[in-house]
Order: sequence, then structure tokens, then C-alpha cells
Amino acid sequence: MSHKIAPSILAADFGNLQRDCKMINNSSADWFHLDVMDGVFVPNISYGMPIINNINKHATKTLDVHLMIVDPDRYISTFKEVGADVLTVHYEACTHLHRTLQAIKNEGMKAGVALNPHTSVHLLSDVLNDLDLVCIMSVNPGFGGQSFIENTYSKLKQLAHLRQESGANFLIQIDGGVNTKNARKLLDTGADVLVAGSFVFKSENPAQTIADLKAV
Ligand code: DX5
Ligand code: ZN
Repeated sequence: MSHKIAPSILAADFGNLQRDCKMINNSSADWFHLDVMDGVFVPNISYGMPIINNINKHATKTLDVHLMIVDPDRYISTFKEVGADVLTVHYEACTHLHRTLQAIKNEGMKAGVALNPHTSVHLLSDVLNDLDLVCIMSVNPGFGGQSFIENTYSKLKQLAHLRQESGANFLIQIDGGVNTKNARKLLDTGADVLVAGSFVFKSENPAQTIADLKAV
């Protein structure tokens, strides 16, 4: 299976969101990555349901929603209503992670879990078969444009090993500081989905940059 590219809208031009959605539709991107921040779980506030609802009107690809919020259970059905196809919650924000994953799947969405840089992949051992996606944060969540944390490779290697040993078949996503320099090594180490925000949107030709990440 070839890898997927998920441009992060966080780095898009919010005054020209329809234009940027069209660019992604017409590019070789696979998913839209949508970062929801609540100012509590992470020290930043991004955007919420109305924006996702509008992106959903224009987007022709999978909406991959990354919730950086406390107590995400309160909003699972609302994110389904506004168009989420994949819903990812943070391990660190879920007291009853197993229940949360089932609730996401009961709504007909794919269920993902994101891990902060300090959170061990081994904490997922008992839910490996309940997961559709694991997002390894390669920066501390909250902001775009940060530098990639090198320890990500070690976590990725361990998670790919756990997946193989258990026979589980979730996708592994890498989020934060991804570019064409680290993409090849990430894919070789076991990543399936690469999220890229600033590297795509701050480039001169975002569609070409997406194509470059897809061709890595
Ligand atoms: C960070 C977000 C990322 C962010 C990635 O909290 O989860 O998705 O948009 O941005 P870059 O690619 O600029 O690191
Ligand atoms: Zn994200």
C-alpha cells in the first residue's frame, strides 16, 4: 500500500479556505488533516465545528479530525455530523479510552489515538485491535511549524513491531515537522500517513510540495 499524505489545514490561509480546499482536492493528497485545539489540553485555540462543516462542503477527500481537547466524548456525535471520517483523540485526554474508541466506531467513524512525545507506545498494548489509526506526535501538540523530534523514529519502530506481533492492522500516522527530508526514513520505519502543515502551505507551490511528499 502506498503511503497517504494529509495536509494540515492549520497552516492554510483561512481567508481563502475554499481555494485551499480546492487545491487539496486537485492535488495528490489523500486526506484533509483538521486540528481542533481547545486552549486547555494544548496552549492554543484553533477552530471547531463550523469551520469543519464548511470544509466538508468543499472537500472531496477523507476528513481526518485530530482532537486536541479534554473530554472528547462530549463531542463525538457532533464531529460525525460535521463530516469527520476519522476521529482521533489523545491518549492523555481519555480516562476511558476503550469506551471512547467504541463510541467513535458506533458513530460510523474510524477511531484513532494520538500520543504525545512523552507517551510510550506500549500503553496501547491492550487496545491494539480496537484501533484504526495511531498518530505519533512528532512535536508537542498545539502549534504548527515546530521542529521534528528525533526520538519519533524509535517510537515508530516499537509501534510497527507491536502491530506486526499482534496482527493488528491500524494505520500509523506521523504528525509534526514532516518534510521531504525526513519522510523517506519515516516510511521505511513503518509510517503509513504523513501529516504536513507548514511544509506544504509555506512552500511556493503547495500542490507540487504535496506531490513531492507523495513521491518520496
Ligand atoms: C500540531 C498539529 C499538527 C500541525 C502540523 O499540534 O497536530 O497537525 O498542524 O504542523 P507542521 O507540519 O507545520 O508541524
Ligand atoms: Zn494534527
